[in-house]
Amino acid sequence: MDAIKKHFNASLIKKIASKFGTPIFVYSEKIILDSIKSYKTAFSKTDILFCYALKANSNNSLCSILAKKGIGADIVSGGELFRALKAGFEPQKIVFSGVGKTEEELNYALKSNVLMINVESFDELEILKKVASKFKKIANFSIRINPDIDPHTHKFITTGKLGGKFGVSLKEAFRMYEYSKKFKFLNPIGMQVHLGSQIYSVKPYVMAIDLILAAIKKLSERGINIKYIDIGGGWGVDEIRGMRPPAILAKAINSKIKHLSGIKLIIEPGRSLMASAGILITKVLYKKKSGDKNFIIVNGAMNDFIRPALYGAKHPVYSFSRNKKKLKADIVGPVCESGDFLAKDIELPLPENGDLLAIGSVGAYGQSMSSQYNSRLRAPEILLKGKSEYKLIRKRESFRDLIYKEVRLP
Ligand code: LLP
Repeated sequence: MDAIKKHFNASLIKKIASKFGTPIFVYSEKIILDSIKSYKTAFSKTDILFCYALKANSNNSLCSILAKKGIGADIVSGGELFRALKAGFEPQKIVFSGVGKTEEELNYALKSNVLMINVESFDELEILKKVASKFKKIANFSIRINPDIDPHTHKFITTGKLGGKFGVSLKEAFRMYEYSKKFKFLNPIGMQVHLGSQIYSVKPYVMAIDLILAAIKKLSERGINIKYIDIGGGWGVDEIRGMRPPAILAKAINSKIKHLSGIKLIIEPGRSLMASAGILITKVLYKKKSGDKNFIIVNGAMNDFIRPALYGAKHPVYSFSRNKKKLKADIVGPVCESGDFLAKDIELPLPENGDLLAIGSVGAYGQSMSSQYNSRLRAPEILLKGKSEYKLIRKRESFRDLIYKEVRLP
């Protein structure tokens, strides 16, 4: 709550809301720059490449802030590759993850000269081999290991446990690395893990690194020299207090890898670079009571911000009202589903209809997971630069945007 007050000046927010309407996402450039800085400072002694996970928020202007600071990109689709290149990320700083890359996407990645492709199955390696041989282009790749480590987070965002669809077992990875030796267009250069998201402890990372270090030693004995250790993303962000200091992560990782030479570390932070930088401004439409429960109905909904509905995530709500009288209520949107809520059972100053509410920590997995469900228009995005300057970085959709791809039958 304090973070919202500190970085998002109430009168400026009101001005933006009246100029561009609500719901609207507002981001602070300062917070993004501060997050980059704290990562860079934390890892200043490490040979490291930061690859921002575009899925957290792929807005062109936001991505270009990161690209200009020398950050790379972690992408998971051809669309994200397109966005990453448009935003100015250097191809040699792009890693391509994902369990279901198509032949076309692999082709696009090779042609774009990305740093490496994080292969997630034997079948994918076969297709990569096919594409690389066809274009006579060396495919630099890493293998995503499934280390079977529990990061103790929400089950939907746990990705490093066996029984899930991500990565391959170490045994399978060894088979794949060995197999690749037979083909001159396949060049193994990395080993990757991604354990999950919203991880608050360094322990799973340390366990994964131990496993990787033992594996790459074995590989080097077999003539396969790994140059990149990619430990994925997932570093946690408390919705109220913000990102856990990356220095905690850096300390734990550095203690494991400081003796290595010729190996670069890659990390793929998404949420921790963006979440705290964004708020979603909504307007109170109505208040009502149902049984014992109070509802504040706002014009933002699950289509704008799905995390509370999908993961039960608890995001802070900041009221711009000065009313001394308090109300305990659910903040709900206009979408026709009982699961459409932005917050549950929270106490806030009793708002007037027309007042603004801000939902905090929505910079990551907010707009990027939004939809047009209920034929609602996706919200615009604003970037705050300095104390009073702001820029529209995505326009509000129009009714035409709802149907312009649809084909009308005669
Ligand atoms: N690298 C890979 C391969 C990933 O799959 C992900 C996220 C990341 C990096 C970045 O993780 P982060 O640093 O953002 O935690 N929609 C969910 C989060 C899904 C994360 C999926 N993978 C949410 O809103 O919590």
